[in-house]
Amino acid sequence: MHPFKYYAFDLLESTNETAKEFAPYDVIHALSQIKGKGRMGRQWESPKGNLFMSIVLPYTKEAPLYSFITSLSVAQTIQSLSPCIKWPNDILLNGQKVGGILLETSLNEPQKLIIGIGINIEHTPKGKMLYPVTCLKDNGLSISCIDLLNEILKTFYQNVIIFEQTGFSKIKQQWLNFASGLGQQICVKLPQKEMNGIFNGLRDDGALILQTRTKQQFITAGDIFMI
Ligand code: BTN
Repeated sequence: MHPFKYYAFDLLESTNETAKEFAPYDVIHALSQIKGKGRMGRQWESPKGNLFMSIVLPYTKEAPLYSFITSLSVAQTIQSLSPCIKWPNDILLNGQKVGGILLETSLNEPQKLIIGIGINIEHTPKGKMLYPVTCLKDNGLSISCIDLLNEILKTFYQNVIIFEQTGFSKIKQQWLNFASGLGQQICVKLPQKEMNGIFNGLRDDGALILQTRTKQQFITAGDIFMI
């Protein structure tokens, strides 16, 4: 059992925006979105048939770690398809993005953490993308939005309990088992520059550890690409 209260909508601008008006432990689900939001100010194509959900939690200083708890939970939920996670939280199948996570905070009292999850179930986005994309259906998994939402919530709640009771290390270890490009040469694209190096793990605050030719760097935001 999990403590979440479910709210369903046919159409919203963005489940993350609506979630900001809701209370901790509410979950907002929309069949489609008009202004689905992606990371770094990008758009998230949101046709009916894919999953769009946002989980509301009380705000915590450990908010960034929820990005790892959530991506781990999604990966575990679709484990049968051998997913990978591309830092910080893209869900990949055979190197193609099938899901993404957008964390936001709402700083009006009571402060909240909003965890938005988008999974391509039936449709692969058609627009111009930074990465190759796919959907669950094209990888042989037929599942309804509501079944996938419930499975994700169950796994997410179990991981939240592990995190609250034992800290980040177990989550980090399991996350690293799904990590794409670990120990390999990657390129980190930041708004102002690019850096190449070996992806050497995660720091305890979730920063990516990048070993460049000259020093160890810690990356807290950006996009990574396998080389
Ligand atoms: C990414 O860019 O990878 C993150 C995508 C997050 C999309 C989800 S869909 C549900 C929630 N509502 C939004 O507007 N965005 C997130």
